[in-house]
Amino acid sequence: MNQYKDFAFVYDELMNEVDYDGWVDYIENIIKNEETQVKNILELACGTGNLTIPLTKKNYDIAGIDISEEMLSVAREKGEEEGVELVLLQQDIAELDFDIPNLDCILCACDGFNYITYDEDLENVFAKSHELLKEDGLFIFDISSYYKLSTILGNNMYGENREDIAYMWQNYFDGEDNLVEMELAFFIRDEEDERFDRFEETHLQRAYKEEEIINLLKKVGFNKIKTYGDFTFESPKDDSERIFFVCKK
Ligand SMILES: C[S@@+](CC[C@H](N)C(=O)[O-])C[C@H]1O[C@@H](n2cnc3c(N)ncnc32)[C@H](O)[C@@H]1O
Repeated sequence: MNQYKDFAFVYDELMNEVDYDGWVDYIENIIKNEETQVKNILELACGTGNLTIPLTKKNYDIAGIDISEEMLSVAREKGEEEGVELVLLQQDIAELDFDIPNLDCILCACDGFNYITYDEDLENVFAKSHELLKEDGLFIFDISSYYKLSTILGNNMYGENREDIAYMWQNYFDGEDNLVEMELAFFIRDEEDERFDRFEETHLQRAYKEEEIINLLKKVGFNKIKTYGDFTFESPKDDSERIFFVCKK
């Protein structure tokens, strides 16, 4: 699967409507509500650092992990431009190799776990997170909901035609394995000769039901699990598109 290769270099442009400042505020409000002292954060699937950089600026000690060297290279470049020193590691979070224990918080934002398509792999990363967290440490993550992946993305096609970039995004939802295959085709204007370069990627996301995730979390030892819908502090609704999980041992 060629995911987040060329796409890495247009990811931020295409995500420019996502309110990452609001996302950071929401995470900080979760931390405040949980009354856990958080100084260090391990961020899984950190991508281009859209949360890593602002959280670092707020004086958290963060290490970010992502499987895509290209996403990390964009994060590194942005960190340098903004004068922020980032600790970034390239790893597959399904085989998380990190050995600093007693962490205050482990974070995974914006679909990172939807990209883990096998139960065993998700269980692995949950178990490793459980092992790495301090006693009252926080495991905070979100997923795109089953409703969003099966119904909104479903088998639908999206597209956009901007000045310098256009894309077509066709989804195929397989209700047996609960997988959405996303075929993406991008057309990027070359700055020099004005012609458009085309590239393609196929992304695969798993649509997890809230209960499946809760069962796996319980199985690895998380006993206090809260879920919230769409950046609120209320339980997810049937049509919530993003579900947040806040877990303690
Ligand atoms: C939608 S992006 C989210 C990036 C970032 N968290 C954000 O909020 O902008 C999903 C990220 O998950 C990463 N990812 C997917 N599968 C992964 C894996 N097995 N291990 C580590 N990172 C993974 C991708 O490379 C990509 O950077």
